[in-house]
Amino acid sequence: MIFNNAEKVLNEIEKAAQAQNKPGNVMLPIIGREKGSVLEDVIKKVQPTNVLEIGTLVGYSAILMAKNMRKGKITTIEALKKNREAAKLNIERAGLSKKVEIMHGNALDIIPALEGPFDFVFIDAEKTEYLRYLKAAETKMTKNAVVVADNVKRFEKEMKDFLKYVRESDNYRSALHDFGADGVEVSRRIRIAL
Ligand SMILES: C[S@@+](CC[C@H](N)C(=O)[O-])C[C@H]1O[C@@H](n2cnc3c(N)ncnc32)[C@H](O)[C@@H]1O
Repeated sequence: MIFNNAEKVLNEIEKAAQAQNKPGNVMLPIIGREKGSVLEDVIKKVQPTNVLEIGTLVGYSAILMAKNMRKGKITTIEALKKNREAAKLNIERAGLSKKVEIMHGNALDIIPALEGPFDFVFIDAEKTEYLRYLKAAETKMTKNAVVVADNVKRFEKEMKDFLKYVRESDNYRSALHDFGADGVEVSRRIRIAL
């Protein structure tokens, strides 16, 4: 039942995004099915107990993750009130409110006050801030947490510092899932920097 409700809401958001994502319109930049399949696969494999999502928008990716989690919960942060309200409704309609808590505000202000520990982090907010989000989250992450980041090809230039860190530091093992114009980075923490 939850699965069907979640699928219905995901389909509705996808249709709204297709209708909106035209020149001159306000975009609805959800991760979508293709790149979202990476997020689903990693969630299914890891079965995290405590997920942190940075950038809720209208709840699409939170629903995608929550419907594949057998246990655990998601804390998702959204800066815009309008988006937070829409996400709340969508997550309720998907029957996933018990698994997802939405926080309203700037992730960089909110993360330091969160308890954690998070074993899974999904980063999908302001593209120039990915490294700052990760550094803020790191103090609340488990030692082998998984970090997924969207838009790593489309906004490669904007997040150069983040990509260099997860790909070249000894703290992560990282892989690009390439979808041509865009990509998703999946990084596993393997060492805690001293
Ligand atoms: C690309 S959208 C997220 C899409 C969503 N993850 C999905 O796939 O369905 C980015 C969202 O991040 C939010 N955002 C941007 N900067 C933020 C910040 N510093 N803290 C929290 N949310 C932020 C924006 O308002 C926007 O809703």
